[in-house]
Amino acid sequence: MKLTIVAGARPNFMKIAPIIKVIEEQQGKGRDLEYRLVHTGQHYDPNLSESFFKDLGIPLPHINLDVKSGSQAEQTAAIMMGFERDLRDNPTDLVMVVGDVNSTMACTIVAKKAGVQVAHVEAGIRSGDMSMPEEINRIVTDSLTDYFFTTSKYANQNLKHVGIGDDQIFFVGNVMIDTLLQHQSNFTPPKIWHSLDLSAKSYLVMTLHRPSNVDQELQLKDLIAAIIENSRNHPIIFPVHPRTRKVLERLDINYPNLHYVEPLGYFEFNYLVQHAVGVLTDSGGITEETTVLHIPCITLRENTERPETCEIGTNRLVGHNKKLLSRALDDLLNGSWPTGEIPELWDGFAANRIVNHLISLYLR
Ligand code: UD1
Repeated sequence: MKLTIVAGARPNFMKIAPIIKVIEEQQGKGRDLEYRLVHTGQHYDPNLSESFFKDLGIPLPHINLDVKSGSQAEQTAAIMMGFERDLRDNPTDLVMVVGDVNSTMACTIVAKKAGVQVAHVEAGIRSGDMSMPEEINRIVTDSLTDYFFTTSKYANQNLKHVGIGDDQIFFVGNVMIDTLLQHQSNFTPPKIWHSLDLSAKSYLVMTLHRPSNVDQELQLKDLIAAIIENSRNHPIIFPVHPRTRKVLERLDINYPNLHYVEPLGYFEFNYLVQHAVGVLTDSGGITEETTVLHIPCITLRENTERPETCEIGTNRLVGHNKKLLSRALDDLLNGSWPTGEIPELWDGFAANRIVNHLISLYLR
């Protein structure tokens, strides 16, 4: 069978890595499973893209569509035009998309209009928040997908709720966790670990990149001030996403315990997370990783598409509520945070299950 795998932005790369690894193992056993990797180029900074390919041992893409940035419509349209050409020149049996970024949705639309089947990895998750571009991407992608590979019971329920048949839903677990567990022994301290003489459980890690947190200057300034006020002077290491950097460049936000760094590689970022006293974030993927690493995580969003990270994991939503934020940081720094449990099938073998399903669907 011929499979085309699409990846475009940073959170996609750790999801495709374990799938490609298992496909290559199957090829080694003589399976007729060919793949073509398409990088849309949605993320193009070396530390958002190249470094992940290198660290995670992802083979070079067969093509990079090189679409770069733009408005939502511009970026989506550029991906669609590029992918349509590539798909025309390289016929395939199945297009596999992962996650919820613009590349996920754009390539799904193109594939279905070209009459090609689509498999969606991390299908079915929903925040219910239509102000997030990712929620729109999830809904559109899942309305066209043929095979849904899911990470949680909630995702299965969401899909069944809109009439997707049991025979199309494959509860396989979480490929991001495959990558986390496979590479845990490679985690390595970043420069800042040495330059600040950091030690385990003595600092916080923060990431912010959602438009709802970073696109409005005053709100971002207020949010950072509230975090600093409740941080009890713990160093806060803040790898700054390019979207956030653009806003921060216009502001002058400086605190002695706030340390800006460039976006980190996978091994360095997760070393910091694994040894932190806690994490503050507006990412979804990081809440999955902190859950598995048993690191307290405060999510600076009003909602989550990953409710299991709050219910049984280590995540707590505080939204934009300063009181909730202050209480959460108190609990975290007082050491009264649940260690949490690991959701079902987040065990490091999700990619094997996905590839086994592909073999059953296409090669038997
Ligand atoms: C995208 C995803 C988001 C994901 C995030 C992870 C969508 C709608 N959003 O958001 O779900 O959580 O990636 O990082 O797909 N930029 C650079 N270099 C790059 C990429 C972007 O400088 O390599 C700048 C661009 O100028 C752009 C801004 O960052 O304006 C945002 O990039 P964009 O790809 O639009 O979305 P993200 O915020 O990265």
